[in-house]
Amino acid sequence: MIVRRTTAADEPALADICLRTGTETGGDATADFTDPALIGKAYASPYAVSPHALGFVGVDDRGVAGYVVGTPDTAALERWCEDHWWPALRPRYPPTDADTFEGRVIRHIHSPRRADPGILREHPAHFHIDLLPRLQGRGAGKLLLTTMLEALAAAGAPGVHLGVHRANTRAIAFYHRLGFTERPSTDAALTLVRPLNRTRDQRPESL
Ligand SMILES: CC(C)(COP(=O)(O)OP(=O)(O)OC[C@H]1O[C@@H](n2cnc3c(N)ncnc32)[C@H](O)[C@@H]1OP(=O)(O)O)[C@@H](O)C(=O)NCCC(=O)NCCS
Repeated sequence: MIVRRTTAADEPALADICLRTGTETGGDATADFTDPALIGKAYASPYAVSPHALGFVGVDDRGVAGYVVGTPDTAALERWCEDHWWPALRPRYPPTDADTFEGRVIRHIHSPRRADPGILREHPAHFHIDLLPRLQGRGAGKLLLTTMLEALAAAGAPGVHLGVHRANTRAIAFYHRLGFTERPSTDAALTLVRPLNRTRDQRPESL
């Protein structure tokens, strides 16, 4: 596997991986969506095109098989999405009350959840990481995430946060291994945080 920066041309691959790792536990969410493009449009594609985002992809002999995407400045990315991303999607996905995963993603497009300012003070960066099953469990996640932590620190962010569903115990164990700690909360989504330190976040040389 090689690691390289994401480009706008990676958008379809990011959206596809987002769908195929989209369930609460990081499994394939294809069966939850009548429109397979929706979840990627909501959670992955903005990171391929926003000037506030940065990311890396893991590429093997079959193509892009994993990504880590994020931003050093969550508030700036949220503002950019409000101005440049959500308006075009809203007419395409009309509001719905459906109590389904697809319905929840559509409601996110119409009323995106804003990050807690109390978390952003010390941890203004955030990211998402998703690997197709063929890349999981071989150190690729660690390589991608440590590459991202270095890049976020180099961009000046003092700390990083992310949300993860409590049911995704594998991902939570992975984040703990990579130095993240939990913020107290009773939500279904857990918030994990980590300070960023350029000298400490040494990435492995390769897989
Ligand atoms: C979660 C995910 C990113 C982890 O990446 P990965 O490549 O599978 O993890 P790695 O092989 O790089 O593991 C890195 C470290 O975490 C540890 N780790 C990973 N999974 C673990 C688990 N279930 N329990 C304990 N430790 C675990 C590894 O042992 C390894 O430790 P080491 O540094 O001592 O060797 C990846 O499995 C994935 O994309 N899953 C599906 C989508 C998903 O859940 N994304 C997260 C949404 S919030």
